[in-house]
Amino acid sequence: MKTVFASNNVHKLEEVRKILYPMEILGLRDIGFHHEIDEKGTTLEANSLLKAQVVWQWLVGQGLDTDISGVFADDTGLEIAALNGAPGVYSARWAGEPSDDGRNRQKALASLMGMQDRSARFRTVITWIDVDGAQQVEGIVEGRIATAESGAGGFGYDSLFIPQGHNTTFAALPATEKNRISHRARALCALRDTILTNND
Ligand code: IMP
Repeated sequence: MKTVFASNNVHKLEEVRKILYPMEILGLRDIGFHHEIDEKGTTLEANSLLKAQVVWQWLVGQGLDTDISGVFADDTGLEIAALNGAPGVYSARWAGEPSDDGRNRQKALASLMGMQDRSARFRTVITWIDVDGAQQVEGIVEGRIATAESGAGGFGYDSLFIPQGHNTTFAALPATEKNRISHRARALCALRDTILTNND
């Protein structure tokens, strides 16, 4: 059976494939879905549901391939304690449109300039949809925002985020370590252990 991950983000797709290996994961390009999804929700839960629903309904409209067991989507936010949880659901476009990871990181550094409390967390909400309906799981990793960027790996805010128990950013850790402890890894493990296992 194949599973569709409702994302065009190559970094996310790579992480998801590694974490869920040996499951066969198709991205949106693999299924021929080329539409933009307007992430207009005001929570991670709403946007994750919206993305999964749009792609699921499109697949059903195409005549669902019997080899596809379901669709899942992730929505992720960086929640900075001193900023009352901002940017949260607005993490992708925090520094304005179009979304720009470099400008977002600069905004994070500028917003925390001179602040003692740099604690933050990544939160991922995954929505799974199949013929039985929709279910959600969550993954969280606690950590803090570094005072400068470091590390060459990862994407998004990775070069600023130091996970609890480490002294370097996600971007400076081996991918295997990020994929063991990250918000996305935790949400995907919950997906695999609670939803996918029960669907066998
Ligand atoms: P979205 O879930 O694709 O909407 O991502 C929201 C924002 O968080 C974007 O700016 C992403 O680059 C960033 N982001 C998502 N996942 C990660 C991650 O694992 N590490 C660092 N940044 C991430």
